[in-house]
Amino acid sequence: MILSIESSCDDSSIAITNIDTYELIYHKKISQELEHNVYGGVVPELAARLHIEALPKILEECKEYFKDLKAIAVTSSPGLSVTLMEGVTMAKALSLSLKIPLISVNHLKGHIYSLFIQKDIKLPLTVLLVSGGHTQIIEVTTLNNMDIVGSTSDDSFGESFDKVAKMLGLGYPGGPIVQEYSQKGDENRFDFPIPLRQSPNIEFSYSGLKNAVRVQILKLEEKGNLTLEDKYDICASFQRVAVAHLVMKLKKYFKQKSPQRFAIVGGASANLYLRKSIDTLLNQFNCNELLLAELKYCSDNAAMIGRVAVEQYKINDFIEIDKIDITAKIKQL
Ligand code: KG4
Ligand code: ZN
Repeated sequence: MILSIESSCDDSSIAITNIDTYELIYHKKISQELEHNVYGGVVPELAARLHIEALPKILEECKEYFKDLKAIAVTSSPGLSVTLMEGVTMAKALSLSLKIPLISVNHLKGHIYSLFIQKDIKLPLTVLLVSGGHTQIIEVTTLNNMDIVGSTSDDSFGESFDKVAKMLGLGYPGGPIVQEYSQKGDENRFDFPIPLRQSPNIEFSYSGLKNAVRVQILKLEEKGNLTLEDKYDICASFQRVAVAHLVMKLKKYFKQKSPQRFAIVGGASANLYLRKSIDTLLNQFNCNELLLAELKYCSDNAAMIGRVAVEQYKINDFIEIDKIDITAKIKQL
């Protein structure tokens, strides 16, 4: 079995995965959403402090499996350095004391492998990764052959939901709240511009849309307080455009590459409007396999890190204890 640890942002999570069968033997996650809610975003130092409390609490429940462990895996990057440090320190201590090797896992590969938790892998695959930190189109050929063919030049898809929620005073994380508000709103009331509409490139940008929402909120506030209906309509109009931007760029990608298998991963892949819009797009291009992770594995979790680690274990992809680099850049996966 492999014990895996995830602490790249505001979720403390540990999992235990069977190497031969991929079975998830144990999985627990303690989220810090409530603690960060009042700040409208994740406060790194607070997150790190909460990991210090949560990770040992979870580890305590795993002690019975220690004798069966063959390796310790940990998210090494990308993420918040002060929170990554907590998971990495625990992983190093376990690796040393149990005398078993250490596996350093890229968080983004983790999101991709969330599709294969308790399942075997079907590759090649094109993936849309939408999370709080990333918006990328990734072509996955093998574990060590992943090409990022499109990414955002500023904010990410999930982050834009968080920022809109913050501007409207709706709390953190913004994605689920904005989605809920959208369901009650008129998505055509505000005509926010679709980002990079004229650009032929497959790239994303969300800062302009965020700014358009900010300006609209200011305009409405000049006339008096925002009503609940205004908030519903802003969320619905924003969500329509945020998704239209993704779909428009994906259309360009599909015209060039016609992938047979497509997946959406990352925390924001939980968005129902996004799922529906991409499903429609795939039908237009005769791509009949949309892969999605189970909802509980869309956001950050250690089960996905354990799933990548099994693949790394099989090719002896271990790392020396002093070689883990939490600042590794992710131009190439
Ligand atoms: O993958 P994740 O848990 O953490 C990162 O690696 O960033 O993703 C969290 C992000 C947050 O920005 C959150 O607002 C967004 O995913 N998110 C959503 C939805 N659920 C979570 N965004 C849009 N719609 C949702 N339903
Ligand atoms: Zn993530």
